[in-house]
Amino acid sequence: MSIVSELNFVTSSAAETEALGERLARAIISHALVLMSGELGAGKTSFVRGMMRGLDAPPDVRVTSPTYVLQHVYAGGRCTLYHIDAYRIAGGGGEFAAGGLMECLDDPHGIVCVEWPEKISDVSWSGDRITIEFEHREPTVRAIRIAASEERSSAVLARLQQ
Ligand SMILES: Nc1ncnc2c1ncn2[C@@H]1O[C@H](COP(=O)(O)OP(=O)(O)O)[C@@H](O)[C@H]1O
Ligand SMILES: [Mg+2]
Repeated sequence: MSIVSELNFVTSSAAETEALGERLARAIISHALVLMSGELGAGKTSFVRGMMRGLDAPPDVRVTSPTYVLQHVYAGGRCTLYHIDAYRIAGGGGEFAAGGLMECLDDPHGIVCVEWPEKISDVSWSGDRITIEFEHREPTVRAIRIAASEERSSAVLARLQQ
């Protein structure tokens, strides 16, 4: 399979961003770390909502921003999705780890999505990960760049491209 290290998309509605998230989740067979950057309202949570659909979660699994609780755990899909929002973490990686938020990385099938990873830039993510940058271009237009760090996530991008 060819090495795909980066894919670029432009979406014109929240529904299109969700559809892209759904496609990414279908390309992830199991276990992935997904770091999502982009200003407030850029579409990160919308993307995760689509990912849950791609994991064949029942429609009553409602995806909302975990800004105040830091982490939501969504079961009911093909694998568990851990949705973390580091926006309000003031103490960096130490606070993140003390809150038990690193433990989900040990779930062998889990998909971990992190909004605002730059708030915990001192966390040393080990191993393979997917990085997504959301850019707010116009009221309804978002540029979405998805990058792979290693072989496994590169294979995910190759499947996403198909
Ligand atoms: N192309 C688009 N992609 C994603 N969201 C969009 C798009 N166009 C408009 N929106 C709106 O922007 C907002 C994105 O919010 P959200 O997904 O919570 O962003 P974030 O998690 O990055 O703060 C929603 O109100 C959504 O309806
Ligand atoms: Mg959000």
